[in-house]
Amino acid sequence: MEDKKAYSIAISLVILLITIIIFARLTLKLSKTFFLITGADVTLVLAVFAAVLMRRKFNNRRQLLENQLDSDGRELRIEYSFLRKVAGVPTRFRLKELEEATDNFGTLVGRGSSASVFKGVLSDGASVAVKRIQGEERGDKEFKSEVAAIASVQHVNLVRLLGYCSVSTMGPRFLVYEYIVNGSLNNWIFQKRGSRGCLSWDLRCRVALDVAKALSYLHHDCRSCILHLDVKPENILLDENHHAILADFGLSKLMGKDESRVVTTIRGTRGYLAPEWLLENGISEKSDVYSYGMVLLELIGGRRNITVAEIGNSKSKFSYLPKIVSEKLAQGKIMDVVDKRLAHEVSAGGGVVEIQVKKLVCVALSCIQERPKLRPTMARVVEMLVGRVPVEEPLQTTMLIFDLLASDEDLDHHLGQPRAPAAMPRSRQMDTTNHYSNSARSFAMSVLSGR
Ligand SMILES: Nc1ncnc2c1ncn2[C@@H]1O[C@H](COP(=O)(O)OP(=O)(O)O)[C@@H](O)[C@H]1O
Ligand SMILES: [Mg+2]
Repeated sequence: MEDKKAYSIAISLVILLITIIIFARLTLKLSKTFFLITGADVTLVLAVFAAVLMRRKFNNRRQLLENQLDSDGRELRIEYSFLRKVAGVPTRFRLKELEEATDNFGTLVGRGSSASVFKGVLSDGASVAVKRIQGEERGDKEFKSEVAAIASVQHVNLVRLLGYCSVSTMGPRFLVYEYIVNGSLNNWIFQKRGSRGCLSWDLRCRVALDVAKALSYLHHDCRSCILHLDVKPENILLDENHHAILADFGLSKLMGKDESRVVTTIRGTRGYLAPEWLLENGISEKSDVYSYGMVLLELIGGRRNITVAEIGNSKSKFSYLPKIVSEKLAQGKIMDVVDKRLAHEVSAGGGVVEIQVKKLVCVALSCIQERPKLRPTMARVVEMLVGRVPVEEPLQTTMLIFDLLASDEDLDHHLGQPRAPAAMPRSRQMDTTNHYSNSARSFAMSVLSGR
């Protein structure tokens, strides 16, 4: 029974008993019956007072215990949430919390192939990036891959997952990351609208090392080998000190330590895909090494690896940076490939920068060797970059994409036909001796180069 109710019953009872005494006094005068009724009434009034006192005492003790339990619980919760934070265990957020944190998803900071990312501030003041993943089946797959890969890893050059939120199986899913203030690398190395500035040469060298360390950790130092499978400038973020943080694990795949490759459907971004994706007989951590090499070349050149320029008469000409870099290296004119916006820094740095450029170029060209076996591991790349092992001159390699682009240009010229379909049946796989049918060649070109 509630306290208020009990007290009002007690008061009503006392008033009733007093009324009975007064009534008895008036009707029975000072008779024996009056004294008997008064005696019984007074006993009852005393009993009511005793019950009220006991109840108050009991309530006070209960309140005291509740307060103690509450403060113990709060302390435990704080301790638990602290332990979760240091252990890197992601928190489950409610949709309402995320709506409040992001001001109803008001500030868009980026958009990728599967998700929109919004800036937010949590109730404890932490700045976060909330990634909203759309799409039922694909969205669910990407959400699970991302949580599986990133929730179990911790590295200074990998983005930190703080939590997640999944409202229903049909609705969007959310991943909550620490907010990385300087956004993605593409806005710092490519000249275009919305670019954030031009990253200095020194910082480019550091970004190259940071990303190599992150990939080396994923490939070699985790319980399972984690393949990122979407290494590209858009998925590399820069923190307040321009340290690189590898992000976006939506396409990642776990590979057992005893496996040498995994078979999976083509995923990743065209232009960074290793040629073995086309063979459909498995990819490995060396596919990430290839994409890393491609990013490294873009970092040096400050331009995309494949660019297409209009040359009039509705004709276009492509330019393939890896081919240009490898020719310039052979001619001893490697400084020609460096981002022109860094000219001042390069001339001020003199020979030192030239040595660094050559080192990065050699590492990049080793990483994009056509045959996966000839590419170094990411651990070896780190060793080369920090100077623990010498950087070797890269072997000459065929460049499937360059050949495909060249032949595709001929095809377009002669046939003037649209691109090949985006899926090739297994029976039409290219053969490894480089004899392609026109359609297979065109398909391979569109898959690998993104043209
Ligand atoms: N933690 C973050 N901090 C700041 N910006 C971010 C963060 N995560 C992602 N972004 C921005 O959002 C873009 C898309 O995020 P991403 O995770 O790559 O999504 P998708 O899986 O759709 O490619 C990134 O290119 C980047 O510009
Ligand atoms: Mg992305």
